[in-house]
Amino acid sequence: MFKRAAAALAAGAMAVVLSACSSGGAANDGAAGGGSDKITIGFSQVGAESGWRTANTKSVQDAAKKAGVTLKFSDAQQKQENQIKAIRSFIQQKVDIIAFSPVVESGWDTVLKEAKAAKIPVILTDRAVDSQDESLYVSFLGSDFVEEGKRAADWLVKEYQGKADPVNIVQLEGTTGSAPANDRKSGFADVIKGDPKFKVLASQTGDFTRAKGKEVMQAFLKSQPKIDVLYAHNDDMALGAIQAIEEAGKQPGKDIKIISIDGVKDAFTAMSQGKINVVVECNPLLGDQLMELAKKVKKGESVERRIKTEEGVFTQDQAAAALPSRQY
Ligand code: AHR
Repeated sequence: MFKRAAAALAAGAMAVVLSACSSGGAANDGAAGGGSDKITIGFSQVGAESGWRTANTKSVQDAAKKAGVTLKFSDAQQKQENQIKAIRSFIQQKVDIIAFSPVVESGWDTVLKEAKAAKIPVILTDRAVDSQDESLYVSFLGSDFVEEGKRAADWLVKEYQGKADPVNIVQLEGTTGSAPANDRKSGFADVIKGDPKFKVLASQTGDFTRAKGKEVMQAFLKSQPKIDVLYAHNDDMALGAIQAIEEAGKQPGKDIKIISIDGVKDAFTAMSQGKINVVVECNPLLGDQLMELAKKVKKGESVERRIKTEEGVFTQDQAAAALPSRQY
């Protein structure tokens, strides 16, 4: 009983914080759904771990302003418990739509059932949940991470085509338990498993951050006498790893080939300098699509359950030309 009261108080306090931090258009009267065409979205963001994430946050905030949507924004600082608290607070505040990018795939059913009971539709953005109950969310907007992992491996297979020597690979994984870490790892593994010359010697999480990417790469360089390829699940970890490789007196992109995912400007710069060999794009600019989707859901229109983002693959020869037009 006491616990429940304390939880309600904590959620209330969080609600005040979230209201204070809200951004976007005109204030909403707080009613969920109903006749008003004003929309309030409660958006729980993963954190600010990477350049990709910063661009994604900006895209959502800018799009909300443009669309006249009231956005209640909450940064979970990479912690699932913070996201669960934020979602409960959004439920209390009776927002029209809850959108969130789940830090990890598992463990969402209870809070999503609470949103469903409150009749607040949930849109997943960027990352998926592994819930078996598909009625817990209306749509999932974001990239195909398995495909990204496959594209990364396709480049590798092509690069080493016709060569028989073993290819020693180290992998910097994203946040443990997150959809992009799970899927990018499995997509990549699926493609290389057919050829025994590709050997993943070490694989460890760098939590999608530059600092952790550097730290783990330093450990890889100490423990692995010969590394041919680094596969990093995002640009920030690749950029951190580049520092570690250079500090170890090796040339990134030459002594150790680097495959990365995202396509932020800093990675394009590194690629144009020959330090990254290939970048598989993952588009963070989901804001406009999210607002459009939320408006449709609010009006009760039917929406696609899965909306995939269109993305490309960029190599060194394209980097310099593509750099000026990169939007993030
Ligand atoms: O979920 C998308 C991933 O999360 C991006 O690749 C990474 O940079 C971010 O932190």
